[in-house]
Amino acid sequence: MTTQFWDGRRETLEDQAQDPLFNPIEHGLTGPQQALDLVRGDADYRQRFQQVFNVSPAEIRMEHLAQAIAAFERTLLAGDSPFDRYQYGSDQQALTSAEREGLALFTGRAGCSGCHSIGEDSALFTDNRFHRLGVGFKKIESRLAEIARIYVSSADPAEQLSPLEISEMGRFVVTGKPADIGKFKTPSLRNVTLTAPYMHDGSVATLEEAVELEIYYRSQERARPLILTPVEKANLVAFLKALTSP
Ligand code: HEC
Repeated sequence: MTTQFWDGRRETLEDQAQDPLFNPIEHGLTGPQQALDLVRGDADYRQRFQQVFNVSPAEIRMEHLAQAIAAFERTLLAGDSPFDRYQYGSDQQALTSAEREGLALFTGRAGCSGCHSIGEDSALFTDNRFHRLGVGFKKIESRLAEIARIYVSSADPAEQLSPLEISEMGRFVVTGKPADIGKFKTPSLRNVTLTAPYMHDGSVATLEEAVELEIYYRSQERARPLILTPVEKANLVAFLKALTSP
């Protein structure tokens, strides 16, 4: 991933790793001091930080925490799914015929791989770019102009806007460009069957519904309906289920 979070507001895992500690709806720590106190106050952490970074408790800094978490995150690799074995391992039996039909739709008529990319010798299932589908947009649509105005003109937008109003602005929060309002990063679809609920706001409960929505968005985008039969939709879902790593 070239950026982190749905709006891509952090570039590196090290930067990303710090945000959840201080996000009020995640760990909700008051600041770096509290995070460092927690680590320095724990005998096991003290010993491990000494071992890995060669630092005394007083020398432990946020950078060490961030590096440690990021190093762990880098071990969370996905691969060797049935799709990988079929596509890159020349194992024709790795996908069932329904899954192969789904793959053909995914890269063909349904146009999914335009954003959920499949490369020559590997596939991230994301283009690492930002798109406006419209998921959750209704929640802020009526106040959009006002929210955007407050966001760009206020020194501390969080004082006047709710966390939802800010997060629903998507990529705009990072770039300040009106064209980026409501855009979110294409999520990878690896292991997608294990990661319900779906979309940036978790508003979609099942994979079937997510695929249904995406078919609808494709129709909107092209201004002509993308019509898939129930069997074709089921094949698309079957293909997505073949993206699960062992
Ligand atoms: C224009 C780019 C684009 C195309 C084409 C596209 N997607 Fe997406 N997809 C996205 C974006 C962006 C999101 C996240 C939207 C959000 O959360 O607001 C997403 C979300 C999803 C999700 C939810 C994943 C999760 O972890 O929450 C699924 C499943 C999905 N897409 C499947 C598909 C399928 C199947 C197709 C083809 C019918 C398709 N997509 C076509 C950009 C695209």
